[in-house]
Amino acid sequence: MPSEAIITVTDLYKTYVTDEVRVEALKGVSLDIARGDFFIITGRNGSGKSTLLHQLGLLDRPTSGTLILNGLDVNTMSERERAAIRVRELGYIFQEYALMAELTALENVMLPAMMTRPMAECRARAKELLDRVGVSHRLHNLPRQCSGGEQQKIAIARSLVNGPAVIFADEPTANLDSIAAQGIMELFRSLNSDENHTIVMITHEQDETTYATKLLNLADGLVDTYA
Ligand SMILES: Nc1ncnc2c1ncn2[C@@H]1O[C@H](COP(=O)(O)OP(=O)(O)OP(=O)(O)O)[C@@H](O)[C@H]1O
Ligand SMILES: [Mg+2]
Repeated sequence: MPSEAIITVTDLYKTYVTDEVRVEALKGVSLDIARGDFFIITGRNGSGKSTLLHQLGLLDRPTSGTLILNGLDVNTMSERERAAIRVRELGYIFQEYALMAELTALENVMLPAMMTRPMAECRARAKELLDRVGVSHRLHNLPRQCSGGEQQKIAIARSLVNGPAVIFADEPTANLDSIAAQGIMELFRSLNSDENHTIVMITHEQDETTYATKLLNLADGLVDTYA
């Protein structure tokens, strides 16, 4: 049985226009992401990887083209509707972790759940997730008291707190040494294969592409290879 598409992108264009320049960052990208995929995006600097991820994650809107998420045309939605989908259904992990410096690990993970759930439930869920990603010894530490690898695991726990359908990660291992990077990749592998989380990840590391169930290489805003 063919797996169900969770994201379908057709002929996506994104042109950035500023006073000085006009950059055609995406020039007609089409792809499908199926539920349960470990979808990895590669390509040279400036090839449009982060631009594409921002489109897929509803962090920005395309210049043209369609994006269907869970059967819905998200480009026609209001910003409010898109924000609701982002909070409930999508998780994000960035190269520089983006944790709140003045909050503990536990508080950082609880935060995205606190708008919709009772405090005790948020706390229990955050603890469970920090345990799941292997940093239960850091519950009450601030980010700066944790290693880079631990901070990224906290960020991964945070991305999971609302039970997202898809997790987006933009070069999540780029700031880590090779041992910590491998720990993060193994964690993603387990979230993907044991818990069926769909993962969309950008990397520059050739050895990390072996984790992919689908691999997309972008070149100059276009799909170069896709398998
Ligand atoms: N907000 C923006 N305004 C103007 N140009 C932008 C903006 N964001 C990206 N660009 C340009 O769009 C092109 C694609 O950028 P993008 O960040 O998507 O590349 P990337 O593949 O993620 O690169 P890297 O590997 O360096 O992260 C680049 O030429 C970049 O300078
Ligand atoms: Mg980038």
